[in-house]
Amino acid sequence: MLKFPSGFLWGAATSAYQVEGNNLNSDWWEWEKRTGRESSGTACRHYEFYLLDFDLAKSLNHNAHRLSIEWSRIEPQEGIFVEKELQHYLDVILALKERGIEPIITLHHFTNPLWLAKLGGWENKKVVYYFLRYVEKVVEILADKVKFWITINEPMVYIYHSYFIGLWPPQRKSFLISWRVKNNLVRAHMEAYKIIHGIYKKKKLASPLVSIAQNMQAFVACQPTLKNKLAVYLRNKLFNFSLISSLVSKKSLDFIGLNYYSRRLVETSSWGIKHLLLDDCKNNHHPVKKNSLGWDIYPEGLYALLIKLKRYDLAVFILENGICTEDDNLRWEYIYAHLKNTQGAISAGVKVMGYFYWSLMDNYEWDKGFVPRFGIIGIDYLSGERRARASAVKFAAVCKTGVLA
Ligand code: FCB
Repeated sequence: MLKFPSGFLWGAATSAYQVEGNNLNSDWWEWEKRTGRESSGTACRHYEFYLLDFDLAKSLNHNAHRLSIEWSRIEPQEGIFVEKELQHYLDVILALKERGIEPIITLHHFTNPLWLAKLGGWENKKVVYYFLRYVEKVVEILADKVKFWITINEPMVYIYHSYFIGLWPPQRKSFLISWRVKNNLVRAHMEAYKIIHGIYKKKKLASPLVSIAQNMQAFVACQPTLKNKLAVYLRNKLFNFSLISSLVSKKSLDFIGLNYYSRRLVETSSWGIKHLLLDDCKNNHHPVKKNSLGWDIYPEGLYALLIKLKRYDLAVFILENGICTEDDNLRWEYIYAHLKNTQGAISAGVKVMGYFYWSLMDNYEWDKGFVPRFGIIGIDYLSGERRARASAVKFAAVCKTGVLA
C-alpha cells in the first residue's frame, strides 16, 4: 500500500485549444485551414459543456484541475479585450470552485491570437509587452479565485516544434530564431511572474504560486559510448534543466511544474551537434511498451527526474503525465506505474504536491489531430457523449483515498 501526503492535489489537465472548439481567432485555426490539416473544429465542445465535464471530474474525486485560457478569445484583435470572454473564464473557474476543485490556470498553451502571429509572434520583441498586457487583464479579474498560475506551457517544446524543426506554426527552422524566441519567452515569464505577484500584493491576497510547465524526457544512452553519454548530458542540460536552473536562480519560480511522458533512447551516429541533440536508437534496442504514437513507456524515468529536481529545493507539481492508447488496461498500467514512481520519489524526500493526468478527456492532439486517445474520459466526437473509462474509475479511488493499493 503506497500512501501519498495529505493535501495532495489530484486531477487531470486540458488546454483550451485542444478541448474548447471554435477558436476562430487563433494562429492554429488559420494554420489548420491554410495547410489543409484535420481541423480542430468543435473539438470536445468543452466551451459549452464545461459544467458537465467538471461534474464528471468531481464524480471521479478530482480535487484540482488544470486548464488554459485562450488568449485569442480574450483579445481577438490587438488591444480589444472582450468582456464576455473574460466573464466566461470567470464562470469556468467559479464552476470548479463550487465543486471543491482547485483551479490551476495556464496563460499560454502553444496557441496565439492570429493578430499577434501576423506581427511576428514570439519572434517579435514586442510580444513581451503584448503578453504582459493580456496577463495583467486576466489576473486582475481572476486573482481572488486562483492560487496557481502557469505562465507558459512547455517553452522548450514550443520552440522545438514551431521554430526549430518547423512542424507547428509558424513553421520556422532556424537556430537563431529559436534562440530569440527563447529569450522572449523567458523575459515574458519573468515579467509575468512579477506582475502576478504584484497584483496579489496590491489586492492584499495571499501570495500566489507561479511557475511554468517544463516538459522533461528521460534521456537514456542506448550503448554506453562516450558519444552517447555526451549526448545525454547535453540533452539533459539543454532540454530539461537549463531553463529551470536559470529561472530558479533568478527567483522566478515558486514551484517546479513538470510534464513527463516518455523516454528517448539516445544513439548518436556522429559528434556533430545536430546528431548529439537529435539522434535516437532506431533498432528497438532495450524495448519497452509504447503508446499509440510510438512513445516509449518508461515510468522509472519519472523517478530519476524527480530525484534530480531535489537539488532546487522547491516543491514539484506533476502537471501532465499520460498515455494515448486504445487499450485502457495499458492506460491504467501506465498511471499506476507512474504514481508508484512518484510515491517512491516522495519517500526519498522529493516534495511533490500534486499529480495531473493528461488528459481529462480525449482531445485534439495538435498536428496529430483526433486519432490519439489520451483521455481518462472517452469522447464520442459525433454525439459529443462523454464516458469515463475504467482507468478513470481506478484513478478515482486513488484520488479519494490518497493510497495506491
Ligand atoms: C504535451 C502538451 C499537451 C499534449 C500532451 C500530449 O506536450 O503540453 O498539450 O499535447 O503533450
